[in-house]
Amino acid sequence: MQFYIDSADIEEIRKANLRGWVDGVTTNPTLVAKTGRSNADVIKDICKEVSGLVSAEVISLQSDEMVREGLELAKIADNVVVKIPMCEEGLVAVRRLSAEGIKTNVTLVFSPLQALMVAKAGATLVSPFVGRLDDISNNGMSLISQIIQIYQNYDLNTQVLVASIRHNIHILEAAMMGADIVTVPYKVMQQLIGHPLTDKGIAQFLKDAQNMPK
Ligand code: E4P
Repeated sequence: MQFYIDSADIEEIRKANLRGWVDGVTTNPTLVAKTGRSNADVIKDICKEVSGLVSAEVISLQSDEMVREGLELAKIADNVVVKIPMCEEGLVAVRRLSAEGIKTNVTLVFSPLQALMVAKAGATLVSPFVGRLDDISNNGMSLISQIIQIYQNYDLNTQVLVASIRHNIHILEAAMMGADIVTVPYKVMQQLIGHPLTDKGIAQFLKDAQNMPK
């Protein structure tokens, strides 16, 4: 399973990359706005740092405009993936960008049938949002297993990118289900490293090392 970082913060991305946790990056307008910089400038910097796929989101809702924005974003670097919100106009843009050889990621997907239509349109990636479904008392991870099942049934090539991850159980379940990619906030990545028995073991070893002859 590939690990993407869900962030537009270049320092965070750099830190995660140094630790080998970055197969790719996802951004969105909320994350980019927090940086106080333009979308293009942020994406340029991320693409200098990371060789994997970097999703950059368009903000138009009309297909001609989405394609225009997507073509501009794709010029920034070869690893840019154009991120498009789930809607009919968005799927038109996906088809047109795919015909130009540009990779796409359809975002804000909340149902298995939306995911089916995304794959029919030929998107490279689909981003189902598990945390936001959990937030409204739905089961986000059952959406992932449904999408994986449907894509397997029909040999669909779109990759499942599990998004809106809130905690390590989401990641464990995604891995058990065979999801292609998870996109994870840096804070959650850090939580995957620790275990109380690891901390206890390190403390014990350091203590015992005091008794080793010099
Ligand atoms: C994915 O591409 C999105 O940027 C992200 O995972 C959204 O997560 P949120 O629900 O925590 O905002």
